[in-house]
Amino acid sequence: MTDFEKGTVAFAIVMLAVAMPVFAEAPDDEAYRAWGKELFATHCAPCHGPDGKGNGPVARELKTPPKDLTRIAEENQGSALQISSKR
Ligand code: HEC
Repeated sequence: MTDFEKGTVAFAIVMLAVAMPVFAEAPDDEAYRAWGKELFATHCAPCHGPDGKGNGPVARELKTPPKDLTRIAEENQGSALQISSKR
């Protein structure tokens, strides 16, 4: 084995070692939802409210009221995925 080949093998082993934990820790649905809830509470609830209805503490300071996120699907013929195509 040349030094270059040894280097390549060593590199591959290191990359696998780095990548393994990522694949091993694919989050289950419950953990994923809990994480989403946390992200929403931190980044979205100040405006959209803790339950997504648009009544967060920052909402009254805004000229354009935050959307009631619980009604997106209803307003988009049943799909929350269509919001990006509205504008
Ligand atoms: C600073 C206040 C603020 C924060 C923080 C905020 N939003 Fe909003 N959001 C708004 C406002 C205001 C609108 C309405 C904008 C409009 O109608 O032009 C809106 C609109 C939306 C819409 C579009 C709804 C529709 O029917 O078009 C979605 C989806 C949304 N926000 C999701 C989020 C998410 C998810 C987060 C957190 C990652 C978030 N927002 C954080 C103020 C905020």
